[in-house]
Formats: sequence, structure tokens, C-alpha cells
Amino acid sequence: MLIAHLSDFHISAGPPETAPVRRDAAAIARLVVVDLMSRLQRPDLVLITGDLADGGSAADYALARDILAPLTMPVLVVPGNHDRRNEMRAAFGADIPYGPTDLRFEMGFDGLRVIGLDSLIPGKVEGALGDDQLDWFEARLQQGRDPVFLMLHHPPFPSGNAHWDASALRQGGARLEAILRASPVPVRLLCGHVHQAFHGLWAGGYAAVAGSPAFQYAFGFDGEDEPPLTDGPFVWWMHHRRADGQFFTHPALLALPPRDDLPAVPRAGFP
Ligand SMILES: [Fe+2]
Repeated sequence: MLIAHLSDFHISAGPPETAPVRRDAAAIARLVVVDLMSRLQRPDLVLITGDLADGGSAADYALARDILAPLTMPVLVVPGNHDRRNEMRAAFGADIPYGPTDLRFEMGFDGLRVIGLDSLIPGKVEGALGDDQLDWFEARLQQGRDPVFLMLHHPPFPSGNAHWDASALRQGGARLEAILRASPVPVRLLCGHVHQAFHGLWAGGYAAVAGSPAFQYAFGFDGEDEPPLTDGPFVWWMHHRRADGQFFTHPALLALPPRDDLPAVPRAGFP
């Protein structure tokens, strides 16, 4: 079984609201979909960890649905700081069993569970997880034996860049870490928000951040300024569950057409 983890498409029907988003982000998202469907090993499941839309309008999500329509496998999305709950629910709620007050969900697929948490604070770049969601998540971990893929837009672990760490998960991270360390089942934590792909171990398990096809940051800057952009390939992750039940994670790279606006990109945008 193959599970694709991608993030931060920042699709908008009109001009992007976010400064660094490339103007052709919707066309780039279509290239990503073509790449997913034309791979020799096509994923069985596509997980998108937030900022699917750039502004979160109904038109943005209608366009996103159209872009994602060629994907024949289930596509699951959690909200990022650029999404809007009501509009995202209207677009995806028929396929994803979102909660009544936020966009948390749980779904089962052939021996694994996917749980999504909703860290969106409307109007804010940073995110939060309240006790209500964490109580629910902790209880869900006790309810099954299958391994869990946990989707959460804002990373609860540091990226290594002070600029983004100041706008990551601002509430609930310590408790989430304690819950994961005590989990009776293995949990693989998938995040976005940072627009830079990296992965490692956190809270006793695997944790990853996917890159973004809309814009990505160069690695290696740890100051408080926004890092410089890169026009390198879009980086995402393909998780492979082998026949013996073990998971291995492969980097997936997609070369994108060079953006023509890099020198003019303002430095004061949001992730
Ligand atoms: Fe983003």
C-alpha cells in the first residue's frame, strides 16, 4: 500500500492572496495531479496536510475539486491557516466525515487509520489544538490496533527556522507529544505549513513535513527573517507499507517549470 503525503497547494481562483505563492499555482497543482496519476507506482491514498486553498473562498475550493478530480484514489484534507472551515466542509464534507464543530476526522483504510486534526485559528498564521480535540484524539488511539497516520497542518515540533517556529503550533503541542509517547499503536505524524520538506523522529515516532508546489523555502536559515525562496523541485513523501507491515518513506521529487517572479517576491508573506 502506498500513501502519498503532500501539502500546501495554495490554490486560488483569483490572484493569490499570499505574497510568495506563484501566480500559476493552480496550473502547478494540475501538474502534481498528472504526476501522481502517471507514476509507475500510483498511490492508494493521497493525504494533503492543509493550505489546499490560498484564500479559502467557495470558488477556490471549486477549483481545487476540479484540479483533484482526476485522482481516482481517496483524497483527504485537513485545514491550514489559509483555509476556511465552512467552505472546506462544503467542498469535501460529503467525502470526509468531518466533526460537527471543526474539521477533525477519522477514516479506516485496509488496516490503517487516518486521523485528521484541525489546528486552524481563523485569521491567524499560527495554529492551536484545544483539549477537546486532544481528548478525542487520545480516546481514538485506544479504540483500535491499526497503525495511525495523523494529519496536522501546524507542526508541533521545531523546523529549525526561528521565523516559522514562531508561527507553528502555539497550543496543545506538549500534550500532543505526551499522548503520542503513550500511544498503544504506532502513529506517523504528517504536517505542512513550513513549505520545506524534512522528516525525523518526534514523540517516539515518525514525523514529517511535506514541501509545497506553490512555493518552497531554501534550507539552512535559522534567523528570524523569512528564508529565501527556492525554485528547486517540489518535495513530498511516499509511504510504503510493505507486506511485512513495516513502513518506509521515500522522497518524491517533481521538477516544476521555473517561476518568473522570484526576484520580485516580497519577503513579508505568510507560510
Ligand atoms: Fe502554506
